[in-house]
Amino acid sequence: PRSVLFSRHGESLYNLDQRLGGDPSLSPNGRKYAEALPGLISRLLGDEPLTIWTSTLKRTAETAAGLPYKKLQWKALDELEAGLCDGLTYEDVEREYPEEYAMRDENKFEFRYRGGESYRDVVLRLEPVIMELERQQNIMIISHQAVLRCIYAYFLDIGPEELPYLKIPLHTVMKLTWTAYGCDIQMYKIDI
Ligand code: F6P
Repeated sequence: PRSVLFSRHGESLYNLDQRLGGDPSLSPNGRKYAEALPGLISRLLGDEPLTIWTSTLKRTAETAAGLPYKKLQWKALDELEAGLCDGLTYEDVEREYPEEYAMRDENKFEFRYRGGESYRDVVLRLEPVIMELERQQNIMIISHQAVLRCIYAYFLDIGPEELPYLKIPLHTVMKLTWTAYGCDIQMYKIDI
């Protein structure tokens, strides 16, 4: 059986007040997750080799920093671009752009932020990442909530209605393993 590991970056300074996008560093709790991650991964893998794929944003690089493996950055793993709403909180968006806020609620998969992306856009830009992933062994992806929803939905065959609402918790490593019967998921949460 083949497997892939996934994790969101550790909690960021923007996660603390539910701010969208940006390029923040990890919060103190996020740093604790980054520090605990190497221990968990070595327990899971033993001496197996691993290559870590991150986005080009600071919070994923900081999360991967202590992991003693080869690393590769993909721009295609960057978080869904919120355009005009980048750096705002959900409350700001609701107040300043009520129409967009309502539209997103109506069809979250298709909604494209002004100057930014939709979930559909992210699915499309992930195509080369997924093709490469299918050809590789021993990969861990450290990326972002929206991006991991898209990758997870691809492998588990989840449709566009459910995809944007999938729960991809912080401080949890997810392991997807392909068996003869389908895809098995294990979750390893690190309590901070
Ligand atoms: O809150 C963290 C975050 O990764 C934001 O940067 C991003 O805009 C958001 O999640 C995506 O989630 P949703 O599509 O549910 O707003």
